[in-house]
Amino acid sequence: MNLNPPSLILALESSCDDTSVAIVRNGRQVLSNVICSQTDLHAKYGGVVPEAAAREHIASINDTLQAALDQAGCQLTDMDAFAATLGPGLVGSLLVGANTGKTLSLITGKPFLGVNHLYAHVASNYLESDLEPPFLCLLVSGGHTQLIVVDDYQSMRIVGETMDDAVGEAYDKVARLMNLPYPGGPVLDKLSYSGNPKAFRLPKAALDHPYNFSFSGLKTATLRAYEKANQLLPPDSPSEAKEALTADMAASFQHTVVETLFEKTVRCAREHGIDTIAIAGGVSANSGIRTRFQTYADSNPGTRLYVPKMAYCTDNAAMVAASAYFNPITDDIRQEVFSRAAR
Ligand code: KG4
Ligand code: ZN
Repeated sequence: MNLNPPSLILALESSCDDTSVAIVRNGRQVLSNVICSQTDLHAKYGGVVPEAAAREHIASINDTLQAALDQAGCQLTDMDAFAATLGPGLVGSLLVGANTGKTLSLITGKPFLGVNHLYAHVASNYLESDLEPPFLCLLVSGGHTQLIVVDDYQSMRIVGETMDDAVGEAYDKVARLMNLPYPGGPVLDKLSYSGNPKAFRLPKAALDHPYNFSFSGLKTATLRAYEKANQLLPPDSPSEAKEALTADMAASFQHTVVETLFEKTVRCAREHGIDTIAIAGGVSANSGIRTRFQTYADSNPGTRLYVPKMAYCTDNAAMVAASAYFNPITDDIRQEVFSRAAR
């Protein structure tokens, strides 16, 4: 990349429901990473309302920018470049970060770097870590579930992906239909601590391709089993019995998801001759996933595991800065950024 070190990048992320601004040095050292979450706003609707999200980004972008500068002890003129997520995401939301970044670039005369949101999730593993390619990345978020072979900082291949729901989407939908609050991922994750993961036998999708995923059938099976188990509860059951059933369902769902992700990822790494595995995306905050992969890495000394810090799992601007540093794409999000392995 052309920037002369030390390269200080101010990045903006506003692709969905988090307004975030970060300042990162050399793609790894986080000086600030301020996240203004809209979760409470959208929780009452049970999901993200795009129009409301865009308006909220407009309301909070300047304060978030100022907080990031203050925390880092920097001024706009210290920056070597500005970066923002250009897609994929909600267009009204994306426009807020992208136009702010482009404006800052114009007024300071420093370059603007456009970032692909999925690249950014992969790059979250470079933050405050020594990770270098090659590695296999399991990307699990609200919109994507992919296995990505990262051959080099700027060369990535998708070798597996979901055929229907993304993992985070499945978590959110299952939680919603179980009348649990949004976002469902963290709620089900927490509930599963007190449940029995073997209480319900749920199906794992059998697919033609070993690295592809499908969570739609699991979602339906979970809801059917939950409804049936609820009907079998005697009408005068104490509320504790209902809570225990919900926890067992959450634990069984999570167990099936975790085992599916784990088995496919480890197989994919082995068959590609890769010994470094990274996990990224909002769902990488999941305690079951982190524990399962960590236990495996601990008992297989040849395997190196990288998992982002919690603050870098869900949407944040620090990962956008890392991505801008390591794989500065162009300003044109219309290009196909990943190559796809012939499958
Ligand atoms: O990466 P992200 O912040 O946004 C997208 O790019 O989609 O991911 C959000 C997703 C949501 O579906 C949320 O329910 C899920 O990540 N999530 C979790 C957990 N924390 C967030 N899913 C399972 N367990 C968690 N602890
Ligand atoms: Zn994301």
